[in-house]
Amino acid sequence: MGWPTHTSDGPLVLGIESSCDETAVALVRGDRTIVAQAIASQEAEHAPYGGVVPEIAARAHAERLAPMLEKVMADAGVALDQVDAIAATAGPGLIGGVMVGLVSAKALAMASGKPLLAVNHLEGHALSPRLADAALGFPYLLLLVSGGHCQILAVEGVGRYRRLATTIDDALGEAFDKTAKILGLGYPGGPAVERLALEGDPKAVPLPRPLKGSAEPHFSFAGLKSAVLRAKENQTNSVRPERAEGPSFTSQQVQAAGSARTVSGYTDADIAASFQQAAVECLIDRLERALDAAGPFPSLVVAGGVAANKAVRGALEALAARRAMRFTAPPLALCTDNAAMIAWAGIERLMQEGANFAGDPLDVAARPRWPLDPQAETVRGAGVKA
Ligand code: KG4
Ligand code: ZN
Repeated sequence: MGWPTHTSDGPLVLGIESSCDETAVALVRGDRTIVAQAIASQEAEHAPYGGVVPEIAARAHAERLAPMLEKVMADAGVALDQVDAIAATAGPGLIGGVMVGLVSAKALAMASGKPLLAVNHLEGHALSPRLADAALGFPYLLLLVSGGHCQILAVEGVGRYRRLATTIDDALGEAFDKTAKILGLGYPGGPAVERLALEGDPKAVPLPRPLKGSAEPHFSFAGLKSAVLRAKENQTNSVRPERAEGPSFTSQQVQAAGSARTVSGYTDADIAASFQQAAVECLIDRLERALDAAGPFPSLVVAGGVAANKAVRGALEALAARRAMRFTAPPLALCTDNAAMIAWAGIERLMQEGANFAGDPLDVAARPRWPLDPQAETVRGAGVKA
């Protein structure tokens, strides 16, 4: 064995991602070229339920993966024996979906005699900024914010991750999705909340900043989500605009009614903007805390689906500037779930282990939970978020 077997540009790795609601396949080369990729979202399948239904997800992965593998290999004009290793997400995630991807990778590895790389999905997110940015060296402080995860990690090297903080209840993406549901915006909610927030006043609705100022840099978003629900209920229960012409209303209230506001004084857009503002403030406060406790770091990096949010990115960029840190955010397509990051994590591992690395055993198990930092202490309620 040994790589690269057919090119001087480093190993060529096939990556498979199927841990949530995206089926994805990618061929990535050690020189950071994404040679070919395909991604199929299951948004339409899950939208009627307002969230990902594990059984539907597993079935959709099983139906789509084989044709997508064929297409990516054909698009790249690459045969299986030209690939140096096969990497697949082995967890954490919805176990049915993870098994579909991992079993397919095992079959390909067995058929081709190439190494199997069982990749931690979180490691894929953690290293994806290095796929996009060749100049990003270790160590860096990573904010990983997605639908399932909300963590601050010190990334010290390949396979060397120190978790500095996690959420004690909901992940931030989950809070975005629930806010979207409360506001009737559909699924997935993050981009919809961000769009609506552009039209709102971030100061209009007083919302809590859970754990802001607390000693440990952990996150909590369940209370914020409940406050959004109460804000929506108060808005709906307050006097409707059409009744606002009566004599008991102030001119301000009548004016508010004229601009389609309820007498509670705020619109859905105001709720979205206020929620987003509260979330961003929590992120920055917690990151400041982590930097005070474990810093300094030369670079601040954000990854995960919520990294697509421009308000989040802007605030992180400003924080990095204040702290004289380099700031890196991967392009949006690498922030949300994708297979290029899984292939890249495989490449990083291959390069670290050396040319004789045989890969993971073919009986490696799919894992619904798989913390990146096994040393990190369990935080109340956080186990569910892997
Ligand atoms: O990383 P990802 O694709 O999947 C997980 O591993 O969870 O992240 C998806 C999450 C969803 O909760 C989605 O609402 C959120 O990322 N998200 C956003 C935005 N785009 C995606 N949240 C806020 N603003 C966005 N623009
Ligand atoms: Zn993810």
